[in-house]
Amino acid sequence: MFIDDVIKNRRSIRKYKDKPLSKEQIIKILDAGNRAPSAKNRVQWRFHVFQGKAKDNLVQICKDELERMPKVSLMTSTAQTFKIMDQAPVVIVVIQTCEWGGITAEIQSVSAAIQNMLLKIHSMGLGAVWINDVLFVEPAILKLLSIEQEESEFRKELTKLGDQLDIKIGYSGPLVAAIALGYPDEDPKREPRMTVDEVTVWHK
Ligand SMILES: Cc1cc2nc3c(=O)[nH]c(=O)nc-3n(C[C@H](O)[C@H](O)[C@H](O)COP(=O)(O)O)c2cc1C
Repeated sequence: MFIDDVIKNRRSIRKYKDKPLSKEQIIKILDAGNRAPSAKNRVQWRFHVFQGKAKDNLVQICKDELERMPKVSLMTSTAQTFKIMDQAPVVIVVIQTCEWGGITAEIQSVSAAIQNMLLKIHSMGLGAVWINDVLFVEPAILKLLSIEQEESEFRKELTKLGDQLDIKIGYSGPLVAAIALGYPDEDPKREPRMTVDEVTVWHK
């Protein structure tokens, strides 16, 4: 498939056939992610692949955690997203290494890896959706993955520098997103998009 077709025709897929993916297929997808550009070439992504009982357990933990949380309007679609993860044969949880403290450069590297994987998935005749709703239950997921959320020295330095300069330096935790994927069982129509004209300012 040509890159233009892949970019144009990729859609978020939220319904999947009850058909497993092979390890070879998943490795090809991870390899595409692993070929993304990264800040200082430090490859700040880590992938956790969930299938079968391990995936069921992950989704149950997400659902239980959501149940325990106060209901806020931001989270209205979260239960639905967890159902999507439930139905998908594979969920990839994407972590950033946070060696610099989860700063924007790291998130950009990891996002590039996620987009590479989404395009690869589409090119293989599979479907996926990028999932941010897992961030609402980040502590529970990190506990499952045995990842300690420590404040790195670099992050402490950065916070101090930000305070001195009176600027806010954005950073986040290790969890970036999840990707639910499988064989598509829907063919969603394209949502209206802003045009290139609407999102671009030309400076000459
Ligand atoms: C950072 C990010 C977070 C997203 N989180 C979710 C999510 O939690 N649940 C969901 O169903 N879709 C999620 N999506 C998918 C978007 O809703 C989708 O990309 C958007 O509606 C455009 O549709 P398209 O991907 O088919 O072009 C997310 C997409 C991005 C880029």
